[in-house]
Amino acid sequence: MRILGIETSCDETAAAVVEDGRRVLSSVVSSQVDLHARFGGVVPEVASRAHVELITAVIAEALVEAGVLAPSELDAVAACHGPGLAGALLVGVSAAKGLALAADLPYVQVNHLEAHLYAAWLGEPDLQPPLAVLIVSGGHTMLVLVEAHGRYRVLGQTVDDAAGEAFDKVARFLGLGYPGGPAIDRLARDGDPAAIPFPRAMLRDGHDFSFSGLKTAVVTYVRKHPDAPVADVVASFQEAVVDVLTTKLVNAADEHGAPTLVIGGGVAANSSLRARVQAAADATGRRAFLPPPELCTDNGAMIAATAWWRLQSDGPTPLDAGANPSLALPSVG
Ligand code: KG4
Ligand code: ZN
Repeated sequence: MRILGIETSCDETAAAVVEDGRRVLSSVVSSQVDLHARFGGVVPEVASRAHVELITAVIAEALVEAGVLAPSELDAVAACHGPGLAGALLVGVSAAKGLALAADLPYVQVNHLEAHLYAAWLGEPDLQPPLAVLIVSGGHTMLVLVEAHGRYRVLGQTVDDAAGEAFDKVARFLGLGYPGGPAIDRLARDGDPAAIPFPRAMLRDGHDFSFSGLKTAVVTYVRKHPDAPVADVVASFQEAVVDVLTTKLVNAADEHGAPTLVIGGGVAANSSLRARVQAAADATGRRAFLPPPELCTDNGAMIAATAWWRLQSDGPTPLDAGANPSLALPSVG
């Protein structure tokens, strides 16, 4: 079964064809980073308009790359319907519904957060729940216990900024450009992660996270020490984030007896986080599953993969369903 997945929730216009929820036949991601960089963040109106301009070409390229000659050769069309920017989401949802209607295919709506979870199955088809999963993106920071397919227990979330948001805000303050995560990841390699003891908020305090105090601590430190090497500042900041994320992921796995650690979302592309989660898994006799970086950041393949599972459990989505900018991950507890 070949499914076309469309992702337009934020600033990537993406489409992919995935076979049986696991095999990526094509994945095209057109980033709008250059359009938003001069504003220091995503401008929703600019994002929506860029999605409209790019979506047809991105879908066409995904079909060609996958060897799909006509949409009627597909088995379903899926789009991310939330959470995300309202106008941006509507572009992907409308494109998917239009294609489904024209080619007489089932339409499947996909939750963006669930899709970040399912990116794991693209890289590791035999992954078996229970899994302790850390979803870290520009908009979310969550610890999720995947008990079975479609059965999630949200254990903790951020009480203020998301991890990616903290990377983006610190990078913006330091003049490192947008998006901040990749820039900090690169620069931190030249710095000393132990140079500055930034706070680890809520480290021993349940499964929730807080990152806004850390961002303020970085700003305060740099104002007091204007000559501090920027590489040391970002390496120490990154170390504080990675320390909290990894410690809490392992704690959650301990508490719920999960033998496998998984990470997903844009921040899961971070080289330091990947190394630390792998080391923590090795040290505690667990498996770590770290999807390849291009499947961590927003992409259409994770939408198509999720749709394959959702089509089996829920069937097609009616065409009068819309987008939901504040959609949550369905949790059993
Ligand atoms: O999942 P994603 O592509 O979009 C959302 O759903 O938000 O995540 C984007 C976030 C941004 O905040 C970006 O700075 C961060 O992921 N990010 C990274 C890295 N690559 C992307 N953060 C740290 N290190 C990276 N290498
Ligand atoms: Zn995302």
